[in-house]
Amino acid sequence: MGDIPEPGTCLTERKKTAVRESWAKMVSTWKTNGVEFFFRLFTTFPNIRAYFKTLDGLDQDALKASSKLRAHAINFKHSVSSFIDNLDDIDCLVILIHKVTENHFRRNITPKQFEDAFSLFTTFVGDVQEVDEFTLNAWRATLATVLSVLTEHMKTLEAQMDGHA
Ligand code: HEM
Repeated sequence: MGDIPEPGTCLTERKKTAVRESWAKMVSTWKTNGVEFFFRLFTTFPNIRAYFKTLDGLDQDALKASSKLRAHAINFKHSVSSFIDNLDDIDCLVILIHKVTENHFRRNITPKQFEDAFSLFTTFVGDVQEVDEFTLNAWRATLATVLSVLTEHMKTLEAQMDGHA
């Protein structure tokens, strides 16, 4: 039973459970994990950091200590939690992903930046938790679903912009 992929998200129950458990562990120490994740994201992809104007000019130590970074990490956590909590309610999940897409489309962020962030996130999970390959693959599958909904919605938003050009 737990191995049959559900048609909406293409995730099996086992994969959803693995992701839920891994995320629950991640959020239990999110104050540290969140800052560390964004710190790595910004160091690995300076082009992603460039979007965060409120963090301009901070050196590495100031960035790690920044309350703005902590606040942003908390916004991100709430949003990801809303996705994970709704893996069983695909209609709601799609709307939640559309909202995030719209908020980021306004900032000219592209699917490529999400793809980079997601790939780094999976690596990060493997670095900070004792997880098996099954769980990492479950994360990859979950984030691939999020990315595909987001990419489709970005195309729609772009087409709407073109229509109004
Ligand atoms: C699933 C992945 C992501 C989630 C859930 C997420 C979530 C959020 C949330 C909830 C906010 C605050 C609300 C808002 O202002 O819209 C936010 C702000 C922001 N996000 Fe994301 N985000 C994600 C990925 C990204 C990526 C890949 C970038 C890459 C550039 C990005 C850049 C930003 C920026 C620049 C802000 C504004 C920060 C500020 O000035 O306070 N986000 N994000």
